[in-house]
Amino acid sequence: MSEGQTLTQRAVEVLSTADGRAKTELSRAHAAAWLASRKPGATPMAVGRGDPPLHPARPARPKLLLPREVPRRRPGSPAGRIALLHAVAHIELNAVDLHWDIIARFGHVPMPMGFYDDWVRAADDESRHFQLMCACLDGMGSHYGALPAHAGMWRAAEDTRNDLPGRLAVVPMVLEARGLDVTPGMIEIFRKADATEAVAALETIYAEEVAHVAYGSKWFHFLCGRENRDPKDAFHDLVQRYFHGALKPPFNDEKRAEAGIPPDFYWPLADAHQ
Ligand SMILES: [Fe+2]
Ligand SMILES: [Fe+2]
Repeated sequence: MSEGQTLTQRAVEVLSTADGRAKTELSRAHAAAWLASRKPGATPMAVGRGDPPLHPARPARPKLLLPREVPRRRPGSPAGRIALLHAVAHIELNAVDLHWDIIARFGHVPMPMGFYDDWVRAADDESRHFQLMCACLDGMGSHYGALPAHAGMWRAAEDTRNDLPGRLAVVPMVLEARGLDVTPGMIEIFRKADATEAVAALETIYAEEVAHVAYGSKWFHFLCGRENRDPKDAFHDLVQRYFHGALKPPFNDEKRAEAGIPPDFYWPLADAHQ
């Protein structure tokens, strides 16, 4: 890490780091450097322009399998709970890369500085979330990499690599919003098992994910306004273009509303409607 690095160079460095621990530590250090540079009187850091890899570097383990090849385990068993946390750790690591990728990939689109602040903060959150999940897995006698994980998580990023509104619609406003729908059920599973460390970690994740969805909605509406597009029509159009399959109810209407996603954005794309 050097003083003169641009934000985009730092993003590419995170994306090019394979090991989960090293990736998230670097991510947190770069986030702290950017946020410090944004304080009044600090030396500003340039956003710059970068050339992010099409796929981020990933560790040799976990082995990546197609979703249908990943063995299913009962969530009521200890092995099932480990598998669930392992899957969340994998999602968090992917999310670290997704947030740095949006910074590096779309450097050519002029955006207000607040756009970078938001995604840097989100990347910092995801890095902590990954580390929290790793600590829980360690506490349960496992570790990230011990089980296979889903391949294909990067597909949404690849499909939307040339379309910033499309990226915002699919990643924070569909995929991360889905996290708001399913996390309360997961917390219940760990609460029933008296797994207090996992409950606390998942509650932190749940509370902080609302902001990531809200950042998505904020900047999606910003771009629609700048391009004079109707946000709801644009959202429907982009999700149908880039997201494969219908959205799955039940939806967490309350948290989605808190994050700035109204029901008429997602309900028309739901399973029941198709
Ligand atoms: Fe997260
Ligand atoms: Fe997130």
